[in-house]
Amino acid sequence: MTEGLLTAAYIMASILFILSLGGLSNQESARRGNIYGMIGMLIAIVATVLSTQVSSYGVLFVTIVIGAIIGSVVAMRVEMTGMPQLVAMLHSFVGLAAMLIGFASYLDPASHLEGVEKTIHEVEIYLGILIGAVTFTGSVIAFGKLQGIIGSKPLLLPARHLLNLGLGLASIWLGVEFINAESIASGMIPLVIMMIIALVFGVHMVMSIGGADMPVVVSMLNSYSGWAAAATGFMLSNDLLIITGALVGSSGAILSYIMCRAMNRSFISVIAGGFGTTAVSVAGGNEAIQGEVLSTTAEEAAQELKSAKSVIIVPGYGMAVAQAQHLISDISKKLGDKGIKIHFGIHPVAGRLPGHMNVLLAEAKVPYDIVFEMDEINDDFSQTDVVLVIGANDIVNPGAQDDPNSPIAGMPVLEVWKAKKVIVMKRSMAAGYAGVDNPLFYKENTRMLFGDAKDSVDTILSAL
Ligand code: TAP
Repeated sequence: MTEGLLTAAYIMASILFILSLGGLSNQESARRGNIYGMIGMLIAIVATVLSTQVSSYGVLFVTIVIGAIIGSVVAMRVEMTGMPQLVAMLHSFVGLAAMLIGFASYLDPASHLEGVEKTIHEVEIYLGILIGAVTFTGSVIAFGKLQGIIGSKPLLLPARHLLNLGLGLASIWLGVEFINAESIASGMIPLVIMMIIALVFGVHMVMSIGGADMPVVVSMLNSYSGWAAAATGFMLSNDLLIITGALVGSSGAILSYIMCRAMNRSFISVIAGGFGTTAVSVAGGNEAIQGEVLSTTAEEAAQELKSAKSVIIVPGYGMAVAQAQHLISDISKKLGDKGIKIHFGIHPVAGRLPGHMNVLLAEAKVPYDIVFEMDEINDDFSQTDVVLVIGANDIVNPGAQDDPNSPIAGMPVLEVWKAKKVIVMKRSMAAGYAGVDNPLFYKENTRMLFGDAKDSVDTILSAL
């Protein structure tokens, strides 16, 4: 493929990636956005494989086939609830690739540059390995936390801010040593030490973040993986990789910022590894929960729903686990047909992925115009007869507002307890992702409907 054709293909792919991001910003155009992204990626891969940079097809072909098989099997097998772990694992691969390409690029005898060009190339290598290493270990720890292999409690080391500062200053000093090194052998020493520091920083950064803040970490690592890819693009002088990396890096950063705002967290605090996180009681705040737990049956719940004039359904992670979205959609249709005003209320971090609940409700064909975001619906709870909470916990925890010592203090929540009656469907009194007890379950107007959400919704539907 000629250079001109390659450039044209890269421009085409870049435009498709931008259109893809634009499409993904709205539920109705998201499918189209995905298709643009897939076509863009196909063009990018084909153009790169046919470019003059590729000299031997043997190894390339074998690795593409192995990668495609592993990728397809993993993607087909993964449950919707396991997507964040998969995304975290894929981010770790981008980080690892940036590190390996950094070292390969430094050791490559063909890239023998002089003067300013050499310095620029070494800065690219240094930054690529630095960002790649932080992304790699940060994503591995995020995978462990999301998979439940590592506990969700934040690790709050006594001198953690000094430790972060020390690691940052050491990386700058090592960078100067690396650039000034006389030979490749002497440059390797600061490069490897910096890589170890960056690997440690990645672990520390994610370990120090509590369960409820994990969504921000996932989108932030997404952003880091984009910057790692952009750095790789600079090392390899590949324009498309630079553009794509910058798109992923900046869109991930914007998403992290939006999520920090939605969760009332400081952006700087999260990207600097829990800086400013105060030592809170992780068990569930200091306030003893008062009240009694009252349970109900599916038949009684159906009766409550039938006699209500307005109902809000609040889905959470448990709805995804139980795969109860289709049945809850049927209930909403049935109640709507009876003339009952029915809305859905979605918290920005409900479930385990940004937009997780929206995707499930769209799959179950719930009309978009009855689905409302937290800010749009929070004032309506006080005028609502029944709120049906299905498998949600942290996102409806009043402790976030009432208990300053709670690990989720300050996080905006759906104020479901303001409704006349709240029915909470879950299997037990177990805590949610943040590991915090929920005073909602003890309120006078709350009734617990214990059991698997799908079974409960099925029985309610029959009773309706
Ligand atoms: P959670 O707080 O995790 O609560 C989910 C509840 O669902 C659990 O308490 C569980 O109680 C119940 N449940 C599980 N399986 C069930 C089933 N089969 N039937 C009925 N109930 C079931 O979920 P949430 O309220 O959606 O809040 C999300 C949490 O995840 C937040 O802390 C958020 O920060 C975090 N997080 C979010 C994301 C994104 S981007 N959305 C990413 C990572 C982490 P039982 O065990 O008693 O049934």
